[in-house]
Amino acid sequence: MTAIYDNEKFFERYQQMPRSQQGLAGAGEWATLAPLLPDFTNQDVLDLGCGYGWHARYAAEHGARSVLGIDISEKMLAVARQKTTSPVITYQRGDLTKLDLPADQYETVLSSLALHYVPDFAAVVEQVARYLKPNGQFIFSVEHPVFTAAGSEQWHRDSQGQIQDFPVDRYFEEGERTTEFLDTPVRKYHRTLTTYLETLLQRGFVLEHVVEPQPPVSMLDLPGMRDELRRPMMLIVVARNQG
Ligand SMILES: C[S@@+](CC[C@H](N)C(=O)[O-])C[C@H]1O[C@@H](n2cnc3c(N)ncnc32)[C@H](O)[C@@H]1O
Repeated sequence: MTAIYDNEKFFERYQQMPRSQQGLAGAGEWATLAPLLPDFTNQDVLDLGCGYGWHARYAAEHGARSVLGIDISEKMLAVARQKTTSPVITYQRGDLTKLDLPADQYETVLSSLALHYVPDFAAVVEQVARYLKPNGQFIFSVEHPVFTAAGSEQWHRDSQGQIQDFPVDRYFEEGERTTEFLDTPVRKYHRTLTTYLETLLQRGFVLEHVVEPQPPVSMLDLPGMRDELRRPMMLIVVARNQG
């Protein structure tokens, strides 16, 4: 099992990011995501690609009966484990595409910014539909298809370094992209908006929310944040299992 988040250099840089230091408060999409989350009271919750466990802890602190956080990276899980003593939370190392969890187990399956690392979204949706109880919710964020399309995920800049525009290219060519993130080549997967949404609809999910989060006004003065009003960086989807 290889995991980019276990790469020493990459992980060191990731630890320094505001969202790694401040958690949900440092995440530009949190103000949009938080109101979309359910009342976790007495829920069994699964967090796919849990990272440091910010969302897992949020669910536990808001009444979840159990939270299972899955991540492929030992280093991410080590930090997650340090950050909680909650008996409600279990962290497990695993590839979220190769899990064998019980069916009809969870009221909510969360996944924050992990599914663009996964090649086969339809297979994930199939699994999630099985893990969810009838009427359960699948709530996930991914990098936005407009953001992932060209592959570089970098602004076009002029000779003075000023932003000119953001490239969107190869939009309908789904598949692998390699982007420089934290000075490391990282493999991600681009899919169209149609693929994200249609895959859910075809599997019998009902779409409850589709949101392209913008940074909140309170974060606009942070470096680079105002530029995030020029392009959609993330996509948030809330879908209900009708199976
Ligand atoms: C950008 S981080 C997000 C972490 C956390 N969900 C958050 O929002 O703070 C992406 C996480 O997905 C994990 N990940 C990527 N591919 C995975 C896979 N196939 N199975 C399990 N975890 C995976 C990475 O190890 C990393 O912790």
